Amino acid sequence: MMINKIIKTRSVNIEFKLTDFEKNEIENKIKNYENPRAVSIEALKIVQKQRLWISDEAILAISDILGVSAIDIEEVATFYNQIFRQPVGCNIIRYCDSIVCFINGYEGILDMFEHYLKIKSGETTKDGLFTLLPTCCLGNCDQSPVIMINEDVYLNFKKTKILTLLDKYK
Ligand code: FES
Repeated sequence: MMINKIIKTRSVNIEFKLTDFEKNEIENKIKNYENPRAVSIEALKIVQKQRLWISDEAILAISDILGVSAIDIEEVATFYNQIFRQPVGCNIIRYCDSIVCFINGYEGILDMFEHYLKIKSGETTKDGLFTLLPTCCLGNCDQSPVIMINEDVYLNFKKTKILTLLDKYK
């Protein structure tokens, strides 16, 4: 139903095509699974790695190559918070806003990120370099506060480190 809604309400770019690289990567994954539906998340990650986010057109293209309904692909994409359905920056900053990080002061860290990046949580910087997002517990509560930038985890994070850290990802 979601995809039907997308098609009715938005102009879907019918020119969208997976690249040969994306197709090869997805087809290699398909060989490892009996059920192509099990490849959905891998396919989404492959496409997102190239394009930074998953558009409606990408959902349809992945549906096509896997032979899985677009609704099923959409459900997987929506379920995983690592899959972005809107454009994001080159680097994703996630701050843990769960209880232990709250107690240990994530709010001060968030304030400083917002200050230096000149955005609010959930937004992307004008230069497209950073997107700032909350996340639930990252499983390192004993070393909180915890933030992640892309795949990198920073434990016992201190707001005094923010500028140095941002420089590293520019
Ligand atoms: S509450 Fe932040 S890592 Fe667990």
